[in-house]
Amino acid sequence: MARLQLTTAGESHGPALVAVLVGLPHGLRVTREAIDRDLARRQAGFGRGGRMKIEHDEVEVLAGLRGGVTLGSPLALAVRNRDFANWGDVMDPFVPPSGARAAAITRPRPGHVDLAGCLKLGLTDARDVLERSSARSTVARVAAGAVAKALLGACGVELFAHVVRIGDVAAAPVERDFAAARERAEASEVRCADPEAGARMVAAIRAAQRDGDSLGGIVEVIAWNLPPGLGSHAEWTDRLDGRLALALMSIQAMKGVEVGLGFAAAQQRGSAVHDPIGWNGRRFTRPSNRAGGVEGGLSNGEPVVVRAAMKPIPTLARPLPSVDLATKQPFDAQKERTDSCAVPAAAVVAEAAVAFVLADALLDKTGGDTMDEVRAHLAGFEASLDAR
Ligand SMILES: Cc1cc2nc3c(=O)[nH]c(=O)nc-3n(C[C@H](O)[C@H](O)[C@H](O)COP(=O)(O)O)c2cc1C
Repeated sequence: MARLQLTTAGESHGPALVAVLVGLPHGLRVTREAIDRDLARRQAGFGRGGRMKIEHDEVEVLAGLRGGVTLGSPLALAVRNRDFANWGDVMDPFVPPSGARAAAITRPRPGHVDLAGCLKLGLTDARDVLERSSARSTVARVAAGAVAKALLGACGVELFAHVVRIGDVAAAPVERDFAAARERAEASEVRCADPEAGARMVAAIRAAQRDGDSLGGIVEVIAWNLPPGLGSHAEWTDRLDGRLALALMSIQAMKGVEVGLGFAAAQQRGSAVHDPIGWNGRRFTRPSNRAGGVEGGLSNGEPVVVRAAMKPIPTLARPLPSVDLATKQPFDAQKERTDSCAVPAAAVVAEAAVAFVLADALLDKTGGDTMDEVRAHLAGFEASLDAR
C-alpha cells in the first residue's frame, strides 16, 4: 500500500509549479540547497532550448516544514515560472486572452498532446492541453524527488541517474564503482559517465540541431544500499518493478522501461539470465545482478538498476506535415520554443521518480511516524538479516 502521495499542479507558462507531498514522517531534515540543486540539474544539459535561459528555478516552501525539519503534515512546494511575466496576458487565471496574444496552437505537432487533447476536449486550440502536458511539470516531480532523496539518504540509500544513449551513441556500461560514475556523469554536459561517448553525444545533438531535428536516448538510474524486501510479491499494484515502471513511463516522452537485463533477457537462456545465489558466512550473496535488484516484485538487496527510453522531442525546427484543426487545410506543424534533446534533463527527472518510489516502498516496510522510528525499524530489520 502506497504511503507517500504526490499531487502536482501547474501549467508551463502559468504562475508556478506546485507539489504536495503527503505521508512523510516527522523529523526529516530537508535543505533548500538540496531541492534547488536538483532543480538546477534538471535545467542543465546540452541540447536544451531558450526557456532554460529565462528560468532560474528556486523552491518556495508553503507548508509542512519548520526549521528545516518536516512536521509530518503535507509538504507543499512551489516553483515560480519567471516566464509568466511574459505570458501574463495569455495565461491570466481570470482574464481571457484575446487576438494574436491568445498564442493559439491550431496546427497540432505530431508526437505531442495537441491533436489527442483537442479531440478529447473538443478544442481547436491546443493551448489548454499542452500547457499542462508540457514537461515543465517535471519541475514539481524533481522538487518532490529531492525530498524523497533526503529520506533515502537519511537511511543510507544512495542513487544517481545518467545518460547511457543519445541517438545512436551508446556509453560504456557502468561497473560497480557507482559513486565514481556519479561524479563523472555530474561533470558531463550530457550527464554521461563515459567522457568519450559524452563528446560524441554532444556532436550528435549538434548535427540534429543543424538539420532542424531532435534526438532521444536512454537514461539509467542506479540505487544501492537498499534493504531486501521492498515492494510486494502478493499484490500486483504493489510490486516494486511495476511501481518503478509506472513512475518512469509517466515521464513525458518515455516509451520503454527496463529493469536489469530488461528486453535483452528475452533473447537468452535462463542460465545466462538468472543470478546465482551464494553465502559468505554472514549473508546471501549474488555474484551478478542481471535482475537489476528486483525479483518477484521485491528488492533483493542488490542495486536497483532501471532504464527508460526517451523518444526524440516532438517539436521540430523543420516541422512535419499537419492539418489545421479548424479549416482542415494541410500545413506544417506549429513551432514553439523547444529543446532539441532533453535526455540529460530527463535523467534528473527519472532519478526523482525512482527516488519517490523507493522512499515510498521503504516507508511501507518500516512504518513509523518519525524519522527516528523509521531508522530504528530499518536497523532492526537489517540486524534480523544477519541473524538468519
Ligand atoms: C525534461 C523534458 C523536456 C522536454 N522538452 C520538450 C521540449 O522542449 N519540446 C517538446 O516538444 N517536447 C519536450 N519534451 C517531450 C514532451 O513533453 C512530450 O513528448 C509530450 O508531452 C508528449 O508526451 P509523450 O511523448 O509522452 O506522448 C520534453 C520531455 C522531458 C522529459
